[in-house]
Amino acid sequence: MDVLIIGSGGREYSIGYALKKDENVDKIYFAPGNGATDTLGKNIALSDFNELANFAKESSIELTIVGPEDPLVNGIVDVFHEHNLNIFGPSKAAAQLEGSKVFMKNCLQKYGVPTAKYLETDSLDEASSFINTMSTPIVVKADGLCAGKGVIIAPTHADAIEAAKNMLSGESFGDAGSKIIVEEYLDGYELSIFAVCDGKDYVVLPAAQDHKRVLDGDEGPNTGGMGAYAPTPLIDDELYKKVEDRVIKPTLEGLKKDGMPFTGVLFIGVMVVNGEPIVLEYNVRFGDPECEELMVLIESPVSELFYKAATGDLANLDIKLSNRYAVGVVLASQNYPYSSSQPAEIIVDEIVHKELSENSYIAYAGVSKDEDGTLLATGGRVLVCVGIGESIQEARDRAYMLVGQVHFIGKKCRTDIAYQALAQ
Ligand code: AMP
Ligand code: GLY
Repeated sequence: MDVLIIGSGGREYSIGYALKKDENVDKIYFAPGNGATDTLGKNIALSDFNELANFAKESSIELTIVGPEDPLVNGIVDVFHEHNLNIFGPSKAAAQLEGSKVFMKNCLQKYGVPTAKYLETDSLDEASSFINTMSTPIVVKADGLCAGKGVIIAPTHADAIEAAKNMLSGESFGDAGSKIIVEEYLDGYELSIFAVCDGKDYVVLPAAQDHKRVLDGDEGPNTGGMGAYAPTPLIDDELYKKVEDRVIKPTLEGLKKDGMPFTGVLFIGVMVVNGEPIVLEYNVRFGDPECEELMVLIESPVSELFYKAATGDLANLDIKLSNRYAVGVVLASQNYPYSSSQPAEIIVDEIVHKELSENSYIAYAGVSKDEDGTLLATGGRVLVCVGIGESIQEARDRAYMLVGQVHFIGKKCRTDIAYQALAQ
């Protein structure tokens, strides 16, 4: 089959990388793709949903996979369905789980899913009164999409009120902050859990752990993610079962009852507090950089997973997961996440070590090509070096070996990806 992938990051590159090895897949298209996805398929410069649907029809594309949240929240899946096309991702209605934190929190409450205690409000007075009853730190979140920046963890009551004020006035995030969530701070460890859903059934993929802060030891500001690994030993069968029974099942049943059955991937951001899973947030797409590791841990053809989810046929999926581990280390540009950096040429040394070349790959993200075809680092998160191994340690060693083979001015990365798992 021919497949269209919507998006331009490392996540979309990794989906294309997995599909490229899949016997069921012929041509791969990316819209818009990046400076390296053209080595896996063809980049298409379209973004209008109807134009993309027409392109899919004319090119006999059997499956479209949506990477990022923006097109999902803006209804790409509904447009493709109107054209009778197969597409992997949730409807606009179900994508509100990520598009609106207020919608998400209200769903969690309605469906009885454990989550942090919260207040939803558009009034500063109401927010301030609630904040004054809470213990610190206090979490303040803008309702709408803010490219991962809409969450403030305020150390004092005054900071929380200030954050609420800046959001509600529109100063911090424009309209996305016209409603806010104020919630209790949860102290535990975070997991990323992915349930691939077809509207009726679901498949849970190996749980991952992301590293959101820019510096080693989880210091510095939040980023989109500086590295991840999977599967994580920080979850066992008992915790998986709690997540299925208390989170995944009630959420999918509730959404179905409310007329918005979920298809695509439900990304559950969980905080584990004293062994209990508490939902921090839902996203309606794969995590980035978690997807880069998951894509090499699926042994059966990945096209089947995506296609069967998109066509309501997961009950007939026989998914084979690897018993190995994958660790991904993000190489970011110099000024990430504060400001953009000068474009820098990327040089990748030839990998002569067979063991490394066979057990690692680079997922390209913020890259473009100049007129001469030179690959340039142009984005904040430039690429992800993924190592695969029999243990987390081996996978991590390979990921960092690969990091040593990649060069560009201003290259930076965390040196401690998977530290929590290795300390176990
Ligand atoms: P979110 O976009 O809701 O996932 O928030 C971004 C990050 O903020 C999460 O990955 C957590 O690290 C942190 N965070 C969000 N909500 C809370 C909370 N209630 N308690 C502690 N940390 C939180
Ligand atoms: N890695 C976290 C995210 O994609 O939101």
